Amino acid sequence: MKKLLNAFCFLFLLPFFQLTAQHLIPDYLNPDKSIEVRIENALSLMTLDEKVALCHAQSQFSSSGVPRLGIPEINYSDGPNGVREELMNNSYAHANWRNDSCTGFPALTCLAATFNPEIAYDYGVAMGEEALYRKKDVLLSPGVNIFRTPMNGRNFEFMGEDPFLTGQLAVPVIKGIQSNGVAACVKSVALSNQETNRKYINVMVSDRALHEIYLPAFKTAVEDGKSWTVMGSYSRLRGQYCCQNDLLLNKIIKKDWNFDGVILADWGGVHDTHEAALNGLDVEMGTNTDGNLSKYDDYNNYNLGFPFLRLLKNGEIPLSVVHDKCRRILRLIIRTSMNRNRGFGKFVCEDHSAIARKVAEEGIVLLKNENNLLPIQKGKYKKIAVIGENATRNLTAAGGSSELKVKYEISPLEGLKTNFGKENITFSYGYSAGPNTWGKVVDSKLDKDSLFKAAVETARNADIVLFIGGLNKSWFQETEGSDRKSYNLPYNQDDLIEAIQKVNKNTVVLLLSGNAVAMPWLQKVPALLQCWYSGSEAGNAIANIISGEINPSGKLPFSFPKKLEDNGAMSFGGKSYPGDSVVHYMEDILVGYRWYDTKKIVPQFPFGYGLSYTSFEYGKITTDKKTYKTDDTITLSFTLTNTGKTDGSEATQVYATQSKASVLRPAKELKAFKKVFLKAGETQTVEMKIKVKDLAFYNEKTQSWIVEPGEFIVRNASSVADVKSSISITVSI
Ligand code: BGC
Repeated sequence: MKKLLNAFCFLFLLPFFQLTAQHLIPDYLNPDKSIEVRIENALSLMTLDEKVALCHAQSQFSSSGVPRLGIPEINYSDGPNGVREELMNNSYAHANWRNDSCTGFPALTCLAATFNPEIAYDYGVAMGEEALYRKKDVLLSPGVNIFRTPMNGRNFEFMGEDPFLTGQLAVPVIKGIQSNGVAACVKSVALSNQETNRKYINVMVSDRALHEIYLPAFKTAVEDGKSWTVMGSYSRLRGQYCCQNDLLLNKIIKKDWNFDGVILADWGGVHDTHEAALNGLDVEMGTNTDGNLSKYDDYNNYNLGFPFLRLLKNGEIPLSVVHDKCRRILRLIIRTSMNRNRGFGKFVCEDHSAIARKVAEEGIVLLKNENNLLPIQKGKYKKIAVIGENATRNLTAAGGSSELKVKYEISPLEGLKTNFGKENITFSYGYSAGPNTWGKVVDSKLDKDSLFKAAVETARNADIVLFIGGLNKSWFQETEGSDRKSYNLPYNQDDLIEAIQKVNKNTVVLLLSGNAVAMPWLQKVPALLQCWYSGSEAGNAIANIISGEINPSGKLPFSFPKKLEDNGAMSFGGKSYPGDSVVHYMEDILVGYRWYDTKKIVPQFPFGYGLSYTSFEYGKITTDKKTYKTDDTITLSFTLTNTGKTDGSEATQVYATQSKASVLRPAKELKAFKKVFLKAGETQTVEMKIKVKDLAFYNEKTQSWIVEPGEFIVRNASSVADVKSSISITVSI
């Protein structure tokens, strides 16, 4: 009887208790309420001090929640291609944890070279999972600044010189990261195109170049990628710092793009309370955080801390300003740290290694392969010489905020030994760069001449040489904080390659870098591969390409000029780069291939270029109609045949040109691309779509996008310089 009574009470009273419990949950904690209801409820319960506390950092990589209400804080982490190790609470010093070594994913430059949005999504998912496992709520990735000059020390962190390619790959990265309930942070808006004087450089750029070149990838990331956060940059745009820039943050991002997320400052990018408060910044990070907080008392003294509070209290700044920021920050918290549905993530697992390897394999670009020297059949050569420091150097560490402490990093030498048998490989350094040191160059203690001579002897005695060099993450190479000093390879590598190829004609050069370099030796070496910074699996991916287990399919996301002055930004002298406190973007909209192509300057390697171990034949491009209205979509197609004996993928590209325009338009602009896998001998019809409105240019007079009626030429191509066929279409009003 007692049991029956208990069962009765349980069954009939439970819903009542549940109802009461639910009733007691305030709206902001109730996941069944809409996000906007939750935000308004939380805001109504907060004091002004609590509201202001949301708007600035509370440690080097976190910002406050509302402790009294149980609203969790936000934890941020770099970076663009993996989850950075734990840092000290109040500085950039490493915290030396033992459980924070991550998977090193390839740099975004390598991802861009895949031309593959599907793999970009997997890359985002995997990085988001690693961030979630490490209890991070915002992953500061992806970086989408445009490659303007090869001197920029941070080019490796971004996705090349084309705004369309960058935007199309940023979207899946963002969606992948955010599928974990971890926010992506698209950075750094805008005009972070050089490291020299980066903390104050004042960029003078036309509205057209701003809207056509430097902003579109951010726009796509916000509008299509729905990124939950955006980071401002250190630069100034026409005199006003980007982290507190009314035009960029309020007008363009929040109003024109309808952004509902949070705009973060780059660390130390805020300089003024009024501007930061009023011009659209939401969260101030990193101001004066140099590990010496005593000077500033605490984080409350940030611009968006006590100084902001004072201005709100005395009425100089209306409360609506802090309320807008809080709504956005609460939205971010509900999407991330307060999201009870998100899982727990995963960290350093086989799946992530496989994704890292696949991105590296698909991103490596074969630039030259005379007489099919590559791939190297296993067993063909008994004496393979591997020469060059990058064959063993750790390239995931250092470089500033993209530095990674990885669980493991397969070096090219290790990968090659595993693949070809260590008994067949001899290694020689050839050159030595010295340690990576922030803020200065420290020379290697090893004797340069002996390294050089030993390498030449190793080459002389080998059947084939794999020279593995390039740049690295040292100061004045590829790192945050400094630009390169020279377009040539450092550490006397040019002379070394010359000397090696003199004694061994079978010399293959592998460049590990995220930037273009001069190649005075190019005509003399039969094979060349661009291998980027490819993360934990770099060595396995490189070995798989060299041995032919993987057929290369990467294409260049930026052009390699023959000489530095051939590059648009570099052709106008110091005013255009690096400037002093002001820099003038004198090449205007003709950035990257738009410059070489329009000015008819032949680059060493053009944008979109990359070879394969097989060959492809393109059919003639056709479109579904001849004439289109501005709201239409062009559907185009062509056949693609793998005419070789090896299966392989080809990143096909479509460029458009306006025949007669009222303003200068680039000779060609990338408007669509598709990576297609074909078995040997197979043919497929490739179909792509272009919205007519994407043929527009930015009209400075009307401050809007305009498609002029008339003829456009649409071309299918294997690179910007290798057009296969073209078709004329007409746009009518
Ligand atoms: C970099 C950002 C980075 C931030 C936090 C800044 O110096 O410019 O890209 O996310 O530091 O480490």
